[in-house]
Amino acid sequence: GKGGHRHFMAKEIFEQPQVIGDTLNAMFNPAERTITLPDLPFDLGAVPRITMIACGTASLAGLVGKYWIERFAGVAVDWDLASEFRYRAPVMAEGGLAVFISQSGETADTLAALRYCKQQGQHCLAIVNAPESSIAREADAVLPTLAGPEIGVASTKAFTTQLVVLACLAIALGRARGTMDRETEARLSGTLTEVPSRAAEVLNHDGRIKALAEETITPARDVLYLGRGTSYPLALEGALKLKEISYIHAEGYAAGEMKHGPIALIDDSVPVVVIAPSDDLFDKTASNVQEVVARGGKAVVFSDAAGVARLKDLALEAIALPAVDPFVAPILYAIPVQLLAYHTAVDKGTDVDQPRNLAKAVTVE
Ligand code: F6R
Repeated sequence: GKGGHRHFMAKEIFEQPQVIGDTLNAMFNPAERTITLPDLPFDLGAVPRITMIACGTASLAGLVGKYWIERFAGVAVDWDLASEFRYRAPVMAEGGLAVFISQSGETADTLAALRYCKQQGQHCLAIVNAPESSIAREADAVLPTLAGPEIGVASTKAFTTQLVVLACLAIALGRARGTMDRETEARLSGTLTEVPSRAAEVLNHDGRIKALAEETITPARDVLYLGRGTSYPLALEGALKLKEISYIHAEGYAAGEMKHGPIALIDDSVPVVVIAPSDDLFDKTASNVQEVVARGGKAVVFSDAAGVARLKDLALEAIALPAVDPFVAPILYAIPVQLLAYHTAVDKGTDVDQPRNLAKAVTVE
């Protein structure tokens, strides 16, 4: 059942504190504050380069993973959409690692990309939610997301648990390569253990986000989402969620790309959702908010108390989420963009769990 919720999507959004914790606990040792992955049939420390491949929301988890792995483990990561990868002539490093991310484990393009990479001699690691799936079976090793069954077509808890696994992979890679010291591992894994309770706090903003959806997003024809760094994939994810369940046109952009084109779209009818946790890119994002507001755009800001204090006079609405280490911010900031899309769709009366034209697993290309 829906656990007292009106839709599976709502149930699955609200399950996130639990399933994020479950997924992390399978890899986190509390005594040593270290991360242990399941045994892998290859040496993680010897991987020269990584290719990250997926579709849709899973690909956006992978994009966050790229930023994390490059920053914390110092390994180059090529990021690809499975549907592009399989028809290109991709060049991969010998002995490289290919990572496939999939909730269903049955996505046709992702599975085809996995088969190609195996043929090319890449080590193939799958991050999947369905343990009995084709992708789980055919990969050399599996890092499971313990999200439980996801029924709503729009991926929510699968996404945040994919992020948890990727965060653990970044830490494990850093240690295996000797690029991350014990202290950093303890600090980063410690910040991950705080995510379930912080995620529960984020869910307390549900009512305010519902009001925001109804007042500002439902009436809009177009919505822009902006973010920088690991908030950029979150902007893409926010836009994807909104368009797939509410049928409102939405685009996610790297905040720094605004002045390369999309700023031409801004007027007082376009809400601009800004993902802006306090991190070392905050000031840059804040100046993009200024540019949006100067052109009449309605900025809706998701930040923390410090960020909201800086932007509340400019923004139409600014919601303060709990302050967290920037490392884990993408996991938390996924939740308000899910809720914003969910409440907009409910308000518009669309079929939230089964949006038109979409299937839960895309088993045809
Ligand atoms: C969006 C969504 C899709 C899937 C994509 C990949 O909410 O659910 O974009 O993320 O179809 O599916 P999996 O993860 O099953 O490979």
